[in-house]
Amino acid sequence: MTPTDGPLHVAIIMDGNGRWAKQRGLPRTFGHREGVKALKRTVEAASGLGVDTLTVFGFSTENWRRPMAEVSELMSLLKAYVESDLERLVREGVKVRVIGRRTGLKPDILAVIDRAEARTAHNTRFLLQVAFNYGGRADITDAARRFAEDVEQGRARAADLDEAMFEQRLSTADTPAPDLIVRTSGERRLSNFLLWECAYAELVFQDVYWPDYGPDHLRAAIAEFRARERRYGGAASDDVLAAG
Ligand code: IPE
Ligand code: IPE
Ligand code: MG
Repeated sequence: MTPTDGPLHVAIIMDGNGRWAKQRGLPRTFGHREGVKALKRTVEAASGLGVDTLTVFGFSTENWRRPMAEVSELMSLLKAYVESDLERLVREGVKVRVIGRRTGLKPDILAVIDRAEARTAHNTRFLLQVAFNYGGRADITDAARRFAEDVEQGRARAADLDEAMFEQRLSTADTPAPDLIVRTSGERRLSNFLLWECAYAELVFQDVYWPDYGPDHLRAAIAEFRARERRYGGAASDDVLAAG
């Protein structure tokens, strides 16, 4: 099987804001602010590069371990991003969906999330999924709890559970799995991002801190993806041809 030629779902672990700032002798929060600019550039460029769904990791369920001031900065940046860009996203046909746990988020953040989702609910040109207070394990656990509740209430039978049924209870239900997962900053791990959905994603690691990211980096990641062969457990396509 060859890489998908159709529109792509790209998921990005936007990492390295803190190191970018440290390198410049600036507080980490400066890195996060520059990171928002990189996000804007990347969202703008994505559809021109053949992407129709972009999922970005904005705040993980583990990021609460950071100093309180940094956590509040990350929360206010989500708010600021929505406040400054929502009308443009609406005009450009971008549907915004925020995935992750709502519990633990303050009412003002929840209101911003609800507004972004409601204002863009009818858009279909491009999907921007923001993983915020998201963790792959938390999402799988929440899906398992929902299924167990359905069994308790007599809406489902344990014996009928299959992958498709389980998937419908994840926060990414309705969205095809990512084709490509990109992580910036040089770290080579998933850090609890899209654990179920990553099963057959191609992984690309780029040695650039997120605040320096832009269209050229995304183009390079997609080019690397296009050169890969996706097999989904099957045989390599030239072996299949050789075998007749
Ligand atoms: C990514 O940059 C942003 C978030 C995790 C929200 P980091 O803040 O993790 O930056 P580094 O990894 O410390 O450089
Ligand atoms: C993952 O990056 C979370 C986000 C990019 C939002 P981290 O910087 O939190 O991950 P670790 O701590 O390096 O694994
Ligand atoms: Mg990091």
